[in-house]
Amino acid sequence: MSEVTIKVRQSGPYLVKGPILVTDCDGNPYTVSGESIALCRCGGSKIKPFCDGSHRENGFTATERVVPPNVKF
Ligand code: FES
Repeated sequence: MSEVTIKVRQSGPYLVKGPILVTDCDGNPYTVSGESIALCRCGGSKIKPFCDGSHRENGFTATERVVPPNVKF
């Protein structure tokens, strides 16, 4: 089985690679093509849950990085 990876893009979407199924709130599957998808995290996309590039225009900034392992959440 292939591994799923989610990359948090700087000031951009979640880039998801791997064998995944994305559904709406009723469980209906979205039809997606390609090996990766970008999920909006700025809230500005007109095609949520997918990124449409609006983050580049709406001033969204996010620069989270992995924190040291001794930090508890
Ligand atoms: S992250 Fe790209 S439109 Fe929201």
